[in-house]
Amino acid sequence: MSHWVTIWRAAQLVGVPRGVLQQRVRAGEIALNDGLVSTDALLALYPQAKMEESGLLERVVQIRDEAFGKRLRERLLPSQEVLAQRLFRQSQELADVQRHLQRYHALVLALRDQLRVHDAQAGGSDPRFTDVLHQLNDGLARALATEPVDLLDVMDDLLKVMSAQVTVRPSGHQFTVEGHDSLLQAGMKAGLKLNYGCGNGSCGMCKVRVTSGQVARCMHSDYALSETEKAQGYVLACAHTAASSELTLETLEAGGPEDIPPQTIVTSVRAVRELAPDTMLLHLQTPRSHRLRFLAGQSVTLGLAGGDGARASHPVASCPCDDRNLHFYVPRRDDDPVAVHLFTGGLKAGDHVTVHGPQGDFVLDETPLPLVFAACDVGFAPIKSLVEHALSLDAAPSIALYWLSTRPDGHFLANQCRAWSAALDNFEYSAFTHTDAATGAGQVGAAMRADLFGIDSVFFVAGPAAFVDALCADLRAAGVPPAQVRREVVA
Ligand code: FES
Repeated sequence: MSHWVTIWRAAQLVGVPRGVLQQRVRAGEIALNDGLVSTDALLALYPQAKMEESGLLERVVQIRDEAFGKRLRERLLPSQEVLAQRLFRQSQELADVQRHLQRYHALVLALRDQLRVHDAQAGGSDPRFTDVLHQLNDGLARALATEPVDLLDVMDDLLKVMSAQVTVRPSGHQFTVEGHDSLLQAGMKAGLKLNYGCGNGSCGMCKVRVTSGQVARCMHSDYALSETEKAQGYVLACAHTAASSELTLETLEAGGPEDIPPQTIVTSVRAVRELAPDTMLLHLQTPRSHRLRFLAGQSVTLGLAGGDGARASHPVASCPCDDRNLHFYVPRRDDDPVAVHLFTGGLKAGDHVTVHGPQGDFVLDETPLPLVFAACDVGFAPIKSLVEHALSLDAAPSIALYWLSTRPDGHFLANQCRAWSAALDNFEYSAFTHTDAATGAGQVGAAMRADLFGIDSVFFVAGPAAFVDALCADLRAAGVPPAQVRREVVA
């Protein structure tokens, strides 16, 4: 019998990105019923998800080489306490279903006995009683027959215990809570723009209202909710995790850069590392209780303590899901005081750097379209943050990344790009080299037209002005609507 699961769960069950399933829904290959997908439809499209039915239990326990087994092993288990709570609730549901089944069964048997009495009283000659009795006996035989278990159902039940599924209202966004993650951490890893402040239970800005399901505390918090808030179901998302396999929360999410407050944070230099002769990685770490809330693709102003007020704007290259560890790719430039300090050894681990921001609207909006990213040199910094955010969202049907280098060492994270391309079916990476940014942009534009001809996509272009201007003009000339091209000049 078919079983209904959400798109999120369906993607987990068959091991494909959610965006790929959503694209098949839009193409009419999968029908949605109230937002749910039938497991029969899933199996028809992904027959490899159906394993041998014999030796089911052994196979689920021992699936060492199966794709699903790999996905299970890659998941961290929640704490014993949370696991016990989820198992307890699942057992309660099962006991409830069993109780109902037993009562229905007893009712059917009682009705059959009564029918037999009436049939006997009628001398066994009334065809109405005889027909109904036959139907009942056949139906009971079918209902009690042992049938092979639907493995997708078993996998779904296993996943429900290991990772809880959360729906956010009113947006309808969904995410899963894995391992020891709090609701806030899990939501951020899924690319949601949840409201929060300190991240450690002291500011109260991450309050969410639980409208169905159960939560468990996973961290101490100093912030005290009022008795009214507690009675209304409010909890701190940073200090709670999901204790039931399904949870619905009510909370507002940031819509765009205008909803992210300006912040000033004194961070510490965690590491400085040469990525290439002319490019340095600057890794800053915020205090545990004061993290940077930003959107992928945004920049901040870095201010050096003791650097004569030296300040410079740099795009954050890391993902907003790790709001404590901020990465910057700083190119060698004489007119950038932060770069000068960095390349002359004036910044080292433990030094303080003030971060002001975030700024900028080079951010990812929700879109069902494929995403195309184009970077030139250190324009790769905001692009990397955006790519990581897009991968967290898992909603893009495909991602293409084009990276132009105007210097020999310009592809300073090519291994990372190749790793994405190797690990993800729907990710393509292409590298280009040309000493002139505008001419190189022409090459990138020509490759895009060849690769993406006829594909409606959203384009993100970042790099020196000559590259951004040339490529954006090329895209406009190719007929890409201006609303589908985002640009960011990164010198
Ligand atoms: S983010 Fe401050 S209490 Fe949760």
